[in-house]
Amino acid sequence: MDELRGKYIEAIAGATDEAALEELRLAAVGKKGEVSLKMRELGKMSPEERQVAGPALNALKDEINAALTARKAALADAALDERLKSEWLDVTLPSRPRRQGTIHPVSQVTEEVTAIFADMGFAVAEGPQIETDWYNFDALNIPSHHPARAEMDTFYMARKEGDNRPPHVLRTHTSPVQIRSMEAGGAPTRIICPGRVYRADYDQTHTPMFHQVEGLAIDKDISMANLKWVLEEFFTAYFGTSVKTRFRASHFPFTEPSAEVDIQCSFEGGTVKVGEGDDWLEVLGSGMVHPNVLRAGNIDPDEWQGFAFGMGIDRIAMLKYGIPDLRAFFESDLRWLRHYGFAALDVPTLHAGVSR
Ligand code: PHE
Repeated sequence: MDELRGKYIEAIAGATDEAALEELRLAAVGKKGEVSLKMRELGKMSPEERQVAGPALNALKDEINAALTARKAALADAALDERLKSEWLDVTLPSRPRRQGTIHPVSQVTEEVTAIFADMGFAVAEGPQIETDWYNFDALNIPSHHPARAEMDTFYMARKEGDNRPPHVLRTHTSPVQIRSMEAGGAPTRIICPGRVYRADYDQTHTPMFHQVEGLAIDKDISMANLKWVLEEFFTAYFGTSVKTRFRASHFPFTEPSAEVDIQCSFEGGTVKVGEGDDWLEVLGSGMVHPNVLRAGNIDPDEWQGFAFGMGIDRIAMLKYGIPDLRAFFESDLRWLRHYGFAALDVPTLHAGVSR
């Protein structure tokens, strides 16, 4: 028995994996193991011999089982130590920075404008940025040789040789969407159309691509009074303070009468403050839709009338958020974008306030 003990205890202590331990278990205390076979011999012994050999064999079996369990645990511990050495992790290290983008002020302001006009019942309409000569000019009562065409600094698309049709243009304003939505939806209608427009111009307040939002409301008895209320309502919601407006008589081929609209501001201390002081800042063109324009959109001017306006989105973004140079809007300078950009989850809604 001592021989058996010596042999197995030593072998178990030297086993280096679980498979070897299992082999030893079978050889010692398995059904046909050496210790089990010895136990079977107990029956052949005299009662005196059995009284000594029985408990001794049981003790040996327990001892071998205990050694197997202990060795198994030791092997598992050693394996874990080995893993911990290689898979070590310092949870006190600062986390890796994750780059987070921001919402561009133009996108933010477009959302703000849309939310405010949506509340007044205006739907959003869209049109193509490459327009035909007809939608950008003629349908808006700007015939071929009208001086307004020259004033617009239009970008013309290239034309194939021999094609004598007027070239397509990059739309110079969002007004062509007026015609497109009249054609598509008829009257009555109430839409705004935010989007990109293009003119060949470049300085601190002009870029060759910029953004406008067009407004159009047509019904039986819409007047300039409705226009004024809607715009004042808009500016007050947008700037978060009551803003006086000033309507100056003006001229656009597509509206009659026409007005340019200024908002109240002060220029004290080198910064523009909207809604206070007694200076004025021009922010949009507007008027009553010209009968020729209604006709071009298949709407009977004897039955319907309405107002339209076109406002610079970039311009009102600069005013609200104190951004001095328009050109920086489109330079993709990350420092500028991080500074003036908005958090991605900062979605403008009327109930939460259109901006932080
Ligand atoms: N389309 C004009 C512009 O770009 C603005 C405007 C729109 C004026 C609608 C009157 C009515 O300057």
